[in-house]
Amino acid sequence: MNRIRRVGVVGCGVMGAGLAEVCARAGLDVLVAVSRPGRVAAGRERLVRSLDTAARKGKLAEADREAALRRVSFTADLRDFADRQFVIEAGPERESVKLDVFATLDKVVEDEQAVLGSNTSSFPIIQLGRVTDRPGKVIGTHFFNPVTVLPLVELVGSVLTEEETATTAEAFVTGVLGKQVVRTKDRSGFVVNALLIPYLLSAIRMYESGMASLADIDKAMKLGCAHPMGPFGLIDLIGLDIVEAISESLYGEYREQHYSPPPLLARMVSAGLLGKKSGRGFYDYAPAAGTTMKAAA
Ligand code: CAA
Repeated sequence: MNRIRRVGVVGCGVMGAGLAEVCARAGLDVLVAVSRPGRVAAGRERLVRSLDTAARKGKLAEADREAALRRVSFTADLRDFADRQFVIEAGPERESVKLDVFATLDKVVEDEQAVLGSNTSSFPIIQLGRVTDRPGKVIGTHFFNPVTVLPLVELVGSVLTEEETATTAEAFVTGVLGKQVVRTKDRSGFVVNALLIPYLLSAIRMYESGMASLADIDKAMKLGCAHPMGPFGLIDLIGLDIVEAISESLYGEYREQHYSPPPLLARMVSAGLLGKKSGRGFYDYAPAAGTTMKAAA
């Protein structure tokens, strides 16, 4: 039987909130760390909204919704993670933040067998392991957005990750969270993003070349390839800043042109047009834009 009952999630953005929800719905005690006390309300609201959606769509009974909410608590102090048995870091894709978080987790998490996972989509797992005295316990646990809906987790072991850590993590995400796992090496992009990101970047380059409109490129991939979303809808869902960070990581590792971030992507990130989470990306999600997405770029 799985011994893991107390989980810590670092960050309560799109991915952190999704992870907290999936863990709470699996019956675990979840402690979510936000960057400062003022961020708790926004984190909780994100969680409540998603639980409400699940209830509305008939995926969650009202009593289970309440129970899940009761299992999640918040802190702005990572020292409260002392008793956690499995931690998933889902903070911003910024090197200094991630290194700080892992160095702190190493000091505060008391259980030497605890797994320290990261949801990073672009940062080498070995670098996170190296700032700790327990690199064997550090592993990439890469979930997909929306976490509540998509079944995949990429498990990414660094050259120092112990096999026991990978086995424990795999048993936990499959047996307790009900996800499915693929194992991948600690290389930029892992499996999914190494294939997905060049496709998304190609869509931006195609749009910049004037070949077709945003809406038609999305329509083409939805109707022609049965993708649930077109590339621009998907970039907006992932977040333009995240797509840029992964693109830079892939380009930095392989120096291949098709991984390099197109200028339009960089300009939009500079302008704060980060996609759905900021209210506008390639499409406009502001309430005034109506219920359907309106091309904004
Ligand atoms: N809890 C449980 N189930 C939920 C839910 C929740 N909070 N919210 C929605 N669902 C369920 C719905 O009930 C529905 O299930 P059924 O089909 O059984 O009814 C299903 O999820 C789809 O939801 P909707 O009907 O509301 O929405 P949709 O059909 O428009 O689908 C979408 C929306 C799930 C986002 C779909 O378009 C999709 O899968 N898109 C692709 C997303 C994708 O590729 N994500 C990966 C991004 S890459 C990444 O994340 C990694 C990275 O590092 C960048």
